[in-house]
Amino acid sequence: MSAIDYSQKIPNNVDLSADRTLQRALEQWQPNYLEWWREMGPDGSLDFDVYLRTATSVDPQGWAHFDYVKMPDYRWGIFLNPAEADRRIHFGDHKGEAAWQDVPGEYRANLRRIIVTQGDTEPASVEQQRHLGLTCPSQYDLRNLFQVNVEEGRHLWAMVYLLHKYFGRDGREEAEDLLERRSGQQDNPRILQAFNEPTPDWLSFFMFTYFTDRDGKFQLCALAESSFDPLARTTRFMLTEEAHHMFVGESGISRVIQRTCQAMNELKTDDPARLRAAGVIDLPTLQRYLNFHFSVTLDLFGADESSNAATFYSTGLKGRFEEGKRADDHQLKGLTYTVLQAKDGRLVEREVPMLNALNEVLRDDYIKDSIGGVERWNKVIEKAGIPFRLRAPHKAFHRNIGSQAGLKVSPEGQVVSETEWAARVDEWLPSATDRAFVTSLMGRVVEPGKFANWIAPPMIGINRQPVDFEYVRFN
Ligand SMILES: [Fe+2]
Ligand SMILES: [Fe+2]
Repeated sequence: MSAIDYSQKIPNNVDLSADRTLQRALEQWQPNYLEWWREMGPDGSLDFDVYLRTATSVDPQGWAHFDYVKMPDYRWGIFLNPAEADRRIHFGDHKGEAAWQDVPGEYRANLRRIIVTQGDTEPASVEQQRHLGLTCPSQYDLRNLFQVNVEEGRHLWAMVYLLHKYFGRDGREEAEDLLERRSGQQDNPRILQAFNEPTPDWLSFFMFTYFTDRDGKFQLCALAESSFDPLARTTRFMLTEEAHHMFVGESGISRVIQRTCQAMNELKTDDPARLRAAGVIDLPTLQRYLNFHFSVTLDLFGADESSNAATFYSTGLKGRFEEGKRADDHQLKGLTYTVLQAKDGRLVEREVPMLNALNEVLRDDYIKDSIGGVERWNKVIEKAGIPFRLRAPHKAFHRNIGSQAGLKVSPEGQVVSETEWAARVDEWLPSATDRAFVTSLMGRVVEPGKFANWIAPPMIGINRQPVDFEYVRFN
């Protein structure tokens, strides 16, 4: 069951050919998907042969097969982790009952909404990143971008499969709409705001894959606990793909830092102007990009108090991160959680029912996980003997959703006046000048083994290939 059948038009490990109606419906969606890819996928890349990995099975050992593929020929398909025998619901009001193999009528609308919201982010990120190939810092990086893009396409397939199989006509319509919305388009935008922002340069791309794909990880982890078993199984496999996206972000930023520190030591300076003149990204600019992507991503977890979050949990649709490892009763009634609120010009803590605070719980888990990578980046700076340290800003900094929305808070967590904010915002968030500078560094480097000046080469190549391997053939 875990082996993937590649003889089918739609590769799958769900025995798709046994369900003719579903197979036909998905085969009708497939050309529309490909049309979307041709229109909105990576700019000018249709004929490139790209050294990509493809899933061969969902077993941890047999995950990937590497070969040159033209991206429109990538074998997008439907891969679910194997079913767990006799899986039980392990949180919420239905705790102890058998996991659902079908959608309970009373939860249909909420489940559909959860699946559509997740599904919408997948093509959105491909759209956001579609021009980056034109300014890639190396073939190695270009290949990684394309790998992320085809896998986000695969994630769309994962959600569309659920919509088609379990949600009848409504599901089919939602699947069409997922190909109709466009990131950043005025009249038909993507659902979540962070997915309508452009990803204009590679520094933003690396920050996005580190921070925003990590939001993906946490959402998927919460859905992997779902009582709706097909959703749990499909998100578990998506998580193995997500890990690579976060690796691209973490290692990308790490290499930028490495290059900058090298220039700082060569020039014996920490003066941003001199470093910029040398064509590398100064550390304070990196900090501002970090502040931006961290804060924008925190908003994706939703309001700190939310009755929807309580409902999704109690009804068993969406669990917590690592639900199974927690020692409480997994129903959370009567428990409280601390959220922040502005009072008399200060942030104060407030206890609220934990069920209503589950967005905040997930956000706090995310913050812990994110900070781990920031510490690893600091190790690179420390090793270079430079006293600068990167820091994740306070969670109330630059927030647009929840009780801190619109509040002016410094990265250190002090509530500040509008005047102070206006005076200091260019220290805290990328300014137009910063963005213009980063843009000015972006030029296309595609000779194998060559890297743009602002980023260090990776330690090792992909799939143990050399760093100067021909990862993309342009034809
Ligand atoms: Fe994804
Ligand atoms: Fe991703």
